[in-house]
Amino acid sequence: MKEIAAKAGVSLGTVSHVLNSSANVRDPLRQRVLDAVAALGYQPSELARGLRREKTSMIGMIIPDVTNPFFPAVIRGAEDVAFSNGYRLVLCNTDNDHGKEIAHLNELRTYRPAGLIVIPSNFSDLTAQAESYRKAGSAVVCIDRMPLNWSGDTVTVANEEGAYRATRHLIQLGHRRLATITGPLHLTNAQQRLAGFKRAVRQAGLTVNPECVQETTFDKLGGHAKASILLRMLPRPTAIFAGNDMIALGVLLAVRESGLQCPEEVSLIGFDDLDIAEMTNPQLSSVYQPGYQLGATAARLLLERVAGSNSPARHMVLETELKIRQSVAPPPESAEPAPSSARTGRKRGSKDAARARA
Ligand code: RIB
Repeated sequence: MKEIAAKAGVSLGTVSHVLNSSANVRDPLRQRVLDAVAALGYQPSELARGLRREKTSMIGMIIPDVTNPFFPAVIRGAEDVAFSNGYRLVLCNTDNDHGKEIAHLNELRTYRPAGLIVIPSNFSDLTAQAESYRKAGSAVVCIDRMPLNWSGDTVTVANEEGAYRATRHLIQLGHRRLATITGPLHLTNAQQRLAGFKRAVRQAGLTVNPECVQETTFDKLGGHAKASILLRMLPRPTAIFAGNDMIALGVLLAVRESGLQCPEEVSLIGFDDLDIAEMTNPQLSSVYQPGYQLGATAARLLLERVAGSNSPARHMVLETELKIRQSVAPPPESAEPAPSSARTGRKRGSKDAARARA
């Protein structure tokens, strides 16, 4: 900056005002400074600025699984809002490992980010961490899943309602032996989706068979393993609600390997509505959740905090939408109602069957 001042023939203060837009500088002077900046190839050090101001224009974002195709849309939404407001997003992946999450949180804090957006990993308890961020002047917003004891800003989707509608659709088609493969049940979104499944089943006068509730990780491998168990059950469930689309992909694979047909013998609905849902064979029915909006809304909330908003914690819940494609159909005629101890459901009445086929 001294060199710029010398080359432009202005004071150090004028250079600082031009570079930091901290005061109005007359046009001819400003231009001289900008010319000197260009001639000297000066690039401000964000690090040095951050140290001076105790805050950078960086936003940290922590996600649980960089290989899951749901998360890029969330990141894109956050990044678009951050970028258009002059902030840069720095991404960290936890692999759903709470230890790795803590390591990222500790390290990111030392870079003095303006704020942090977190999609919590398994068993997250971010309360203490968030407190130290707040003390350092950085805001924290949690999205998609809630950590234990979280009382800060959140953006989530209507998980329970989405799962309820998906399950109700299967029931309306005539299915009585329903199963679900959930994500990890210590995650709030997996809990809520299971609650929606159970609500629809019970509301239809059916019972939830514990064996028909299989818990796994939010991925294809987990879906495949748990579907293989469900498909060996006698009688077999005729419809499966998967906790996310990656689980559903694993189910599709297991159905194919078992020599069964989807949807003729097993109907399937996932959650997320990934782009790939339209490309599978059959095309996957799924509960759409607005990933992009999730990220964009979180970034907007965060920037309001960065700008000084002190309002009480906000909890935004975005709507989901059921997308019906080829992976659902009425149950096969041969699907005999199971004995009451081994089934999720009651005997299908002739009215139900007629409605299902209609
Ligand atoms: O596919 C990843 C899943 O985990 C999504 O359903 C999302 O809600 C996340 O928590």
